[in-house]
Amino acid sequence: MTGATLDAAVLNAVFDSAAEAMVVTDRYGRMLRVNAATLRMFGHKTEEILGASLSLLIPRGRSRRAVHDMQSYPAETILGAAGTEVEARRKDGSRFSAGLSVGRVTCEDGPLFVVILHDLTQRKAVERALERARRMESVGRLSGTLAHDFKNMLTVIIGNLELLERRIPPGAENELIQDALDAAQTGVDLTDSLMGFSRHRNLAPRRLDINAIVERGSALMRRSLGPDIDVTLQLAGELWPVKADASQLRSALINLVLNAQEAMPEGGRLMIRTENTEIDDAFLAQELDIQPGSYVRISVCDTGIGMDEETQLRAFEPLFTTKQKTGGMGLGLASVYGFALHSGGHATIYSEPGVGTTVSLYLPADEAAEQNRIAPQPAAGMGAGDGQVVLVVEDRPELRRSTLARLEALGYATLGAADTEEALALLGARPDIALVLTDLVIGEEPRGLALTERIRERFPHVRTLLATGCTQELHNPLRAGDADLQILHKPYRQIELAARLDHLLGRASA
Ligand SMILES: Nc1ncnc2c1ncn2[C@@H]1O[C@H](COP(=O)(O)OP(=O)(O)OP(=O)(O)O)[C@@H](O)[C@H]1O
Ligand SMILES: [Mg+2]
Repeated sequence: MTGATLDAAVLNAVFDSAAEAMVVTDRYGRMLRVNAATLRMFGHKTEEILGASLSLLIPRGRSRRAVHDMQSYPAETILGAAGTEVEARRKDGSRFSAGLSVGRVTCEDGPLFVVILHDLTQRKAVERALERARRMESVGRLSGTLAHDFKNMLTVIIGNLELLERRIPPGAENELIQDALDAAQTGVDLTDSLMGFSRHRNLAPRRLDINAIVERGSALMRRSLGPDIDVTLQLAGELWPVKADASQLRSALINLVLNAQEAMPEGGRLMIRTENTEIDDAFLAQELDIQPGSYVRISVCDTGIGMDEETQLRAFEPLFTTKQKTGGMGLGLASVYGFALHSGGHATIYSEPGVGTTVSLYLPADEAAEQNRIAPQPAAGMGAGDGQVVLVVEDRPELRRSTLARLEALGYATLGAADTEEALALLGARPDIALVLTDLVIGEEPRGLALTERIRERFPHVRTLLATGCTQELHNPLRAGDADLQILHKPYRQIELAARLDHLLGRASA
């Protein structure tokens, strides 16, 4: 092989295997060649891209002008230079931030340009999470110090009131003192909540059976929530014990249930679910602040008003409330978050306005119990796809994209459909589809369920797996006859996904 052909072969390999989108354009920004990563990143087919202007991928309006004026790039190559940030657009219209570098190649027929785009979505998400963690920490420190000082002052006030009470002869004045004492005690309770958020509060961790605590608590909850709120429990069998403070856990549950009740003024459904869960690294990247390991997840789900994005971002902050009018203090979730953090765990919110909210607590499983447990086997199920074709039915493009990417990482070939008609058409055309992974809710209706039924009738060789979050299930309770449905509870981990597919497809081929 001559040096030149070797260079060309190496360059081709780099082009085809790069994770960055690489686009070769002429001096007018017309796209002449793209690599596989470009097709993946933008969702276009090759023929839609070739010959089109670069503005298909980087719309002109919102980006810096210079991006499209290829002539303005200097003669010397700038490949690998720190990228400018631009706004890129996928085929489905969704936008994302990308880092841009441009290299210039001088050819006989005029210059060519190599445009490299790096998807910054993940990095942005991590930056936002970090920013939030920093803010929580500083607010936590501040409120902890304040609460501590207040508590000292309240101690003096209560002490002196009690001395006074003893010195004054019984009479009307005693009532005044008693009122003042009650108010001071309320102040102490409040500062306790604030301190629960910061690190000042003492926890008395014991080994706890979470299911038992939830079950005992639920009788009381049912009574106080009244008949308009339907309470269900979904408690995992063989739940791992955790080490945590029992009374704090009870108070966290009460806070979550109260929030759910307040979010459902007209009534609704509430579910408390417990399950064992392993945190692996992919998950870790999304849910900052948690160590990999074994956790028990306790989720409180409701079919209430849900939260907008701003509320979701700030809900765990102490003193953040949208209930000023009804006297909300904004301390409920802060103390829940503080409790989870100080128990070595974490708390998360998943919410959709108008649909409902799920708040999950992750508490570390008790180490003593770990030895008796069958270790998870990430390697076994991972990458076992072997090119089998999985069709993903999900109406939200960003979710569909991430599910497709997760399946591809496991070695499956993938197809995507935005609705049930598209899915059925694809099933008709592609007899090689082995499994359909569908969301329960498509276009705000439980169409996934009907779809699995249709598939069973028309394509009995195709396996189905229904993905659903607990709020969705509350809106669309599955009937008893659906017992043989295969259900994947969201949010699911990569290893769970791998194991379920392996199981379903392994059995299918046996
Ligand atoms: N289940 C839920 N559904 C919808 N919004 C919720 C839910 N839980 C919490 N929120 C939102 O998060 C905010 C903060 O909740 P948090 O429990 O910390 O305070 P609060 O309920 O307003 O007051 P407090 O709990 O101190 O009485 C609430 O004001 C509300 O906007
Ligand atoms: Mg509350």
